[in-house]
Amino acid sequence: MEDIKAEKLPRHVAIIMDGNGRWAKKRALNRIRGHEEGAESVREIVRVSREIGIPFLTLYAFSEENWKRPGYEIQALMNLLKRFLRSELKEMLTNGIRLQAIGRIHKLPEDVQEELRKTARETSRNRDMVLTLALSYGSRQEILDAIQGIAKGVKAGKISPEDINEELISSGLYTEGMPEPDLLIRTSAEYRVSNFLLWQIAYAEMYFTPTLWPEFRKQEYMEAIREYQRRERRFGATGERGGRET
Ligand code: FPP
Repeated sequence: MEDIKAEKLPRHVAIIMDGNGRWAKKRALNRIRGHEEGAESVREIVRVSREIGIPFLTLYAFSEENWKRPGYEIQALMNLLKRFLRSELKEMLTNGIRLQAIGRIHKLPEDVQEELRKTARETSRNRDMVLTLALSYGSRQEILDAIQGIAKGVKAGKISPEDINEELISSGLYTEGMPEPDLLIRTSAEYRVSNFLLWQIAYAEMYFTPTLWPEFRKQEYMEAIREYQRRERRFGATGERGGRET
């Protein structure tokens, strides 16, 4: 961690956690064991993010597409999530971590929604890091929701079509008020964005690794951060700061 430069840290890291199933399969275990081990990686990555001073960490924990999985797997993921929220509350309070969820949260089982509300409420005054769980999340759905909101505003005469700009769209997304991700990580040798934060990652650095999520721990995370710090982030065509990143 010594060679991580504090001044060039990403403000917002977003992660597509992939490969739990393959991790389990390699060991002739069932997929649920893979998710359990994946939850251990979540714990470690949250802890390390806070330690090195990342202000925003967003994890893709359950996609809109994940509803197509077998019922028992969905149930196991929901139980794991609840267990995670309960077991990590103390740590979040000690370490100043605020938890929030983005996505179509109303589609989650009522007990999970309740646990999310409770954790969000109890951690709401924390200021050191925001941990965002994307749940029942799909980026196109998010953009659709934003557009519908704007269309209603236009219909009601509160917004004129000329007022529609990037800021207005950004402020209609679930990530309203958050900085855009600087670094997007995806594990398990899949080189896709899969409907995650499509609008928000326009200028993010991408880091893809073959490591499966249950094996993505501190060392590998530090490698991703180092790689981010090595890359020249070009601000405008000249590579000098001042313009927008390209
Ligand atoms: C992908 O593995 C991962 C998920 C479907 C969701 C991520 C969930 C966790 C890391 C566990 C619990 C989360 C929290 C927040 C405690 P996959 O099943 O798609 O893997 P595969 O592509 O190898 O089958």
